[in-house]
Amino acid sequence: MSRLDLVVRGGLIVTSRGTFRASIGIEGGVIVAMGSTETMPPAERKIDADGLLVFPGIIDEHVHFRDPGLDWKEDFRTGSMAAAAGGVTTVLDMPNTEPPTVDRQGFLSKLEAASRKSVVDFGFYAGVVPGKVDALRELAELGAVGVKLYMSETTGIGEPVDGLDLIRAMEVAASLGLRVGVHAEDGRTIAALREVLRAGGRRDPLAHMEARPVAAEVLAVARALLAAKATGCRVHVFHLSSGEAHGVIRALRPMGIDVTVETCPHYLLLDGREALTRLGNVAKVNPPIRSREDAEALWEALRRGEIDAIGSDHAPHLPEEKKVEDVWTAPSGFPGVETMLPLMLTEVHRGRLTFAEVSWLLSEGPARIWGLYPRKGAIAIGSDGDLTIVDPEAEAVIRSENLHSKSKVTPFEGLRVKGLPVYTVVGGEVVMEKGEVREDARKGRLVRPLRRSA
Ligand code: DOR
Ligand code: ZN
Repeated sequence: MSRLDLVVRGGLIVTSRGTFRASIGIEGGVIVAMGSTETMPPAERKIDADGLLVFPGIIDEHVHFRDPGLDWKEDFRTGSMAAAAGGVTTVLDMPNTEPPTVDRQGFLSKLEAASRKSVVDFGFYAGVVPGKVDALRELAELGAVGVKLYMSETTGIGEPVDGLDLIRAMEVAASLGLRVGVHAEDGRTIAALREVLRAGGRRDPLAHMEARPVAAEVLAVARALLAAKATGCRVHVFHLSSGEAHGVIRALRPMGIDVTVETCPHYLLLDGREALTRLGNVAKVNPPIRSREDAEALWEALRRGEIDAIGSDHAPHLPEEKKVEDVWTAPSGFPGVETMLPLMLTEVHRGRLTFAEVSWLLSEGPARIWGLYPRKGAIAIGSDGDLTIVDPEAEAVIRSENLHSKSKVTPFEGLRVKGLPVYTVVGGEVVMEKGEVREDARKGRLVRPLRRSA
């Protein structure tokens, strides 16, 4: 038998349904052998994973790598290095770049940048802006994994999508077999509240929470799900933040709506009022981080299997953009691709999650939602050779200055985490080893959905 490129020996493999001990052989970028260590063919490179956990490559289904066009905040080089450092082997990038990924030219310019710079694999969402819905056809042909639309305004993308545009986008997406992921906050409610607060002289970070209340999320989630019902479109709620909005999903799902749900580490782990008071606009994000009760409701939903994915919503901005006094001029979001896995592994030690749930929420779940499974999200013969190898006992303290992102700010500053990625393997190449990112080990590739109707 020929020599393999890589053998990972003796780790504990963590799937969504349990763990087992096995060695894994990778050749030509693909998993070709699994079994006991003695049965592995010889290999160019071996990793001894004794005492380590081997996850299917972690997928961050929600990143904003800002490339092209907003590259002072991030680009595919720095963003993907942060991903590799955080154990993430595939990222799915959002369309609010410059140009936005709303047509052929937008897609191809992003593909050019990512192919040249990324050390991890990547997929792209097709964006929708009013009046450009038909471009979804060419974006599906080019390989978009799904559709992302904003029901309120956001960084880099102007007009929100709602009403007739929402219905038209879902009709076209359904005909193409694409799932539509929504940023579900009601744009009109938010715009009106913001003007009232501004006119009243409010400039403090807490005003952000008041301008974007839970009610705005509830309204938008309800409309997105009902539009999905009316059009037969599959829908995904990105960054669910509140217990109330989750309640709406629970209530409407039995109508026969194919809805999947993402939340993010910050909604599970932080108290919005406390974070904005302590950290100022660093903790400003859309939707806002809510109350402890909301976080508890999300944990409860997670325990019941009603959350399908965790994504980071990696939304980098420069520290000087974030650290301004006036809440209305501070941009929303913070980096997260590098801290997501350690934060969630820490919750396993705290008894709130199992390793199998981490494997589901951060790998298999997103792979299934976006039609990438089992090429991604699985450790199986024929799957891509993407592995995230974790030392469950290793500890670190999150420090913004150590992040690989250009955006050296994090609301998790100073937090001690337990459970760290020690090798990130993409297509059989080691792109991160013990914290060192190997920038030149491999160039990432575009991942397209295997089936659009999955
Ligand atoms: O806080 C956010 N920042 N939420 C979004 O939906 C967009 C993101 C960004 O791109 O900055
Ligand atoms: Zn986002």
